[in-house]
Amino acid sequence: MRTKEIRVKINEFKNLDELTGNFKDLLIKSREIAKNAYAPYSGFFVGAAVLLEDGTIVTGNNQENAAYPSGLCAERVALFYANANYPDIPVTAIAVSAIGKNGQIPDLVSPCGSCRQVLLETESRFEKPVIVILDGNPIQLLEGVENLLPFGFRPHALK
Ligand code: THU
Repeated sequence: MRTKEIRVKINEFKNLDELTGNFKDLLIKSREIAKNAYAPYSGFFVGAAVLLEDGTIVTGNNQENAAYPSGLCAERVALFYANANYPDIPVTAIAVSAIGKNGQIPDLVSPCGSCRQVLLETESRFEKPVIVILDGNPIQLLEGVENLLPFGFRPHALK
């Protein structure tokens, strides 16, 4: 038997001001768009802001439905919009923020498994790492989706 370990790298930031230029703006945008989420069932408002390689920023938020599984997470709303409208422009980064039932940003805002899988696909599609910025206390920055979904299922597996 042989045992392997996979390490992930997480960069922590105490607050918004510790983040630099583009990434600070991106997180501010994800905080803003979280307020427009349609989340009458969970009361959990999530916002995502996607930065494209040409500087374009696309935002999205969670859209819930009375038929619960018909809703969609903020990350996928934003990523699918980006890929639908800018299919040839690589995604550089995504920031994710949330407002919990108490009106505060939760300490940890972490994408669900399905959103991680879509992020992995985005990386594969453009063959570039996507930087993931997760709001909370601390704010966390991952330098690629491998750090969020190690050992993931990639398109290569279908070849
Ligand atoms: N949600 C997101 O939008 N993104 C995540 O990463 C986690 C969960 C949404 C889905 C649902 O509308 C609500 O948060 C509660 O799960």
